[in-house]
Amino acid sequence: MWTKETKVVILTGAGISAESGIRTFRASDGLWEEHRIEDVATPMGWERNPQLVWDFYQERRRQLFEVGPNPGHVALTKLEEYLDEMLLVTQNVDNLHDRAGSKNLIHIHGELEKLRCEECDYVGIMMEDHDLTSSFVSCPECSNAVMRPHIVWFHEMPMRMSEIEKALNQCDVFIAIGTSGHVYPAAGFLASAKQQGSHCIGINLDPPLNFDLFDEFHQGKAGEILPELVHQWINTEQP
Ligand code: OAD
Repeated sequence: MWTKETKVVILTGAGISAESGIRTFRASDGLWEEHRIEDVATPMGWERNPQLVWDFYQERRRQLFEVGPNPGHVALTKLEEYLDEMLLVTQNVDNLHDRAGSKNLIHIHGELEKLRCEECDYVGIMMEDHDLTSSFVSCPECSNAVMRPHIVWFHEMPMRMSEIEKALNQCDVFIAIGTSGHVYPAAGFLASAKQQGSHCIGINLDPPLNFDLFDEFHQGKAGEILPELVHQWINTEQP
């Protein structure tokens, strides 16, 4: 049974943004079918061919203007408004949770909107027209270095892990939405939450790799299932 005091951690993946028109990674028409991870999502790829990597992310940065949050993103903001403590961890680098209004949100794999300077570590939202072309952008702080995408690539450390681990150790309910369970450490959150006694809920189009660990699994589209589930969760509190 849910109350306002129920502590909830939610992990989202590409599936929650699929209904907004953003391609997932591992579907038959997914991004990794067309691009090699080694080429566009590793520090070595950036070193070898920065233009290829830059163009890949610039296309995805420009796409943010063509998409918007869907009912799945919105349902999670309703749940956050109701609960005293909810942490939303997303593997998605789009800004759809932010635009839907989620507040306590961690982008564990970085954010497309932001660029980062490898020299002085400046990070900022850079989404003006001149930031979105095929030309590299210089750092607004130290001006001599070229900015890189503020994305966590394979072989790099995901962001804010200690905050996430702390929340996982204390949560009553863990919910994974739209993620295939392939990429660690995020794919390991379910096992951590389960081990410390959380009730674990999965919402996904197809059963993910770690399907067996869920206490409750809802198969289907997040944008269709989540609004109804959130409505039920918010209305189960007894007087
Ligand atoms: P995947 O593409 O691996 O998995 C997306 C999951 O969403 C699949 O299990 C689909 O069945 C499911 N799905 C698709 N449409 C859905 C819908 N409408 N509603 C619910 N579920 C749906 O994406 P992620 O698990 O997010 O990392 O991938 C994790 C990481 O791998 C990404 O953050 C990215 C990638 O490599 C980096 O780039 C570092």
